[in-house]
Amino acid sequence: MSRSHAWARASANIALAKYWGKADLTHNIPAVPSISLTLRELVTETEVCFDAALPDDSVTLDGRVATAKESARVRACLDRIRAHAGIDTPARVASRNHFPTAAGLASSASGFAALVVAAARAAGLDASAATASAWARQCSASAARSLFGGFVELPAGQAGQSELAAQPLLPEDAWEVRVVVAVLAETPKAVGSTEGMERSRQSSPLYAPWLQLAPELTKRIREGILARDLTEVGPAMEQSTLSFHAAAMTAEPPLLYWLPESVTVLQALWRWRAVEGLQGWATMDAGPQVKVLCLAADAPEVAARLAKLGCVRQTLVTSPGPGVCSGDGAAPWQRAKAAR
Ligand code: DP6
Repeated sequence: MSRSHAWARASANIALAKYWGKADLTHNIPAVPSISLTLRELVTETEVCFDAALPDDSVTLDGRVATAKESARVRACLDRIRAHAGIDTPARVASRNHFPTAAGLASSASGFAALVVAAARAAGLDASAATASAWARQCSASAARSLFGGFVELPAGQAGQSELAAQPLLPEDAWEVRVVVAVLAETPKAVGSTEGMERSRQSSPLYAPWLQLAPELTKRIREGILARDLTEVGPAMEQSTLSFHAAAMTAEPPLLYWLPESVTVLQALWRWRAVEGLQGWATMDAGPQVKVLCLAADAPEVAARLAKLGCVRQTLVTSPGPGVCSGDGAAPWQRAKAAR
C-alpha cells in the first residue's frame, strides 16, 4: 500500500449501566456489563491516511499536535489495525470533536470508535460492525458501544475473549428520551478511567460488591429500556452510578470525581423529584458533570431548572443518535475547509 485515505464519524455515548472494572487488562475486557445511549449532538470525525512516504505516525486533535500520551494510545490502536491488515505503513491521523462545548465532556468513546473505523477502512479491511466494535473495545471499552446507534449493550467478558463486542439493544428512534448535561466548573485533570478502575479493583473494599451488583442493575436497566419505562430505568441507573463512584471513593488513595457543584445538582434533582414529581434521574462518569435522563417532553423544564441553579455553567440537551458512518478520502470537515 502506498497511500490510502478514509474518514469516519462517531457519536459519544453515555452509560446508563456503568462499566467500571476489567476482567483482563491486556485485552481490555470489562468485568461488568454496561448499557449506553449514543448521543447525536456529540460527534467526533476522524480521518486516517496511511502513507508510505510518511516518516512516522502523526496525530492531530482539534488542530493541535497530540501529546505523547494521546499519540501512544492512538498508535496502539493503529498497530492493531495494521496487524489485522498485515501492513506496517505509517499513518497521518486528524481528529475533530464537533461538541457544543469542550468543557468536561469525554470524547474518548467517539474518538476511538471513529479512529478504528476510519483506520480499518483506509487499511482496506472489510470489518463488520461487531468486529469493529471488538477492535474499538481494545482501545477503550466504552468506544465499543459508539459503533451502534440508540441503546447499546456491552456484555461482561472473560479473560482472553478477544472477540467481545457491543450489540444494539433498541434503535435511536424507538424511545424519545433526552440526556440533559449540566456542565459544571472546570477541574484539574482527574485520574483517567483506566487508572481509576484499576485502583478501585486493587484497593477498594467495595469493588467486589460492585461486581456482584452490576449485572442485576444492568438487567433492570435493560428491561426498563425494552419496556420504555423511565421509572424502571432511572432508579437502577442512579444506583449504577452511585455504586461505581462508591468503589472509586473507597479506593486507596481515594478517588472523588465529584465537585461541590455535583452534589448541589444531585440534591436539587432529588428534591424536584421527591417534592414536585419531576421525572429526571442522574448519571455521572469519571468526572464532575451530572447528566440527567428524562423524557423529551420534560427536557426543557429540566434544562431550565438546572440553568437556574447558579453553579451550572451550561446545559446541553442531547438526544439518541446514530452509530458510526464512514467514507473514502478526506473527512467532510477537511473538504469544507479546502472549499473555503
Ligand atoms: C465511567 O471506556 O474510558 O465512563 O476501557 O479503560 O478506556 P477504558 O475505559 P473507558 O471507561 C469508561 C468508564 C465510565 C463508564 C462507562 O462509560 O461505562
